[in-house]
Amino acid sequence: MIELRNFVKNIKPYKPGKAIEDIAREQGLTGEILKLASNENPLGPPPTAVAALKKSLNKLNIYPDDNCFHLKHRLSTKYKIPINQIIIGNGSVELIELIFKAYVNPGDEVIMSEPSFIMYKIACQIFGGKMVSIPLVDFKHNIEKITQAINTKTKIIIIDNPINPTGTIITKEQFDQFIKKIPDHVILVIDEAYNEYIEDEFYPKAPNYLLKHSNLIALHTFSKIYGLAGLRIGYGFSSPDIITALMKVRLPFNVNRAGQAAASAALDDKDFVKKSIANNEEGKKFFYKELKKLGLEYVPTYGNFIMVEFSKEAMEIFNLAQKRGVILRTIYEYGLSHHLRITIGTPQQNERVIRVLKEII
Ligand SMILES: Cc1ncc(COP(=O)(O)O)c(C=O)c1O
Repeated sequence: MIELRNFVKNIKPYKPGKAIEDIAREQGLTGEILKLASNENPLGPPPTAVAALKKSLNKLNIYPDDNCFHLKHRLSTKYKIPINQIIIGNGSVELIELIFKAYVNPGDEVIMSEPSFIMYKIACQIFGGKMVSIPLVDFKHNIEKITQAINTKTKIIIIDNPINPTGTIITKEQFDQFIKKIPDHVILVIDEAYNEYIEDEFYPKAPNYLLKHSNLIALHTFSKIYGLAGLRIGYGFSSPDIITALMKVRLPFNVNRAGQAAASAALDDKDFVKKSIANNEEGKKFFYKELKKLGLEYVPTYGNFIMVEFSKEAMEIFNLAQKRGVILRTIYEYGLSHHLRITIGTPQQNERVIRVLKEII
């Protein structure tokens, strides 16, 4: 066998939530299968985005705009951030990879929480970074320990806010103190994949800090509240220098034409965003109430998912739910063997999950 690069040998590939098609085939299920495993928007894609996508189809023979000008322009207007401080990626996961690709030399230290979104670990491994993992406390980032871990070899600190899989956040008060302590030689990446679901004033939206912090990167995505996970569009804000560096290491035409068209339209669909927030809030309340009735512990969440604790191995619950046509998410790779992560669905979907959990436990 041809030998792999040393850095790649120990990588455990990213494990996405199980696909509906796979479960139908594996379990021989014919009824409607419900997937609440990947934090997708249960309301579907915004109709305005679907219309824009359809309009783009007769140009599929032409390469997309390599600079995503139209979409960047829309984002620039919405966030009041200049175009040269914006990058668009093939999902925000691509941007995570680009950050490591552009900045991490083998042996550079990268600080991250354990657990947090698993792609940070994988990207760090690919480029031979030295992972400095800081355990969560009470399922939250341990800001104090993260700050203490910074040294001259630190290149990147990467933090999800809220955290996938626990759903907790760093507050504005904590973040204001934290960001002051980041030295100039360190890039601070704040991954806000779920930010639009959070309307609380104490949530610190990272783009607001760009003016004063040129080493900050804020990551957002169209995969969650904008309901476009299937088109793979993420975006990032940073200083012009960092954006230029990231643009250097991306592949040409990294963002497809249909995705650019749909994302631009989705940004304007305030009604869809509003409905998605309302559905999520209602679903969270429903889960809190029903999980409590079932005697199950959960972590109050700021995302569109909820992490639930079971008294036995989560795989058993996962398998039994799957047999009943409900796909949830095990999080063993996050070091959590007695927990499942459940995406908040529509009221009907949430009721089905609770019904199935009731049967199982
Ligand atoms: C914290 C976090 N960041 C990034 C992503 C990936 O988003 P995208 O679909 O934009 O690649 C996810 C997806 O689940 C996530 O939970």
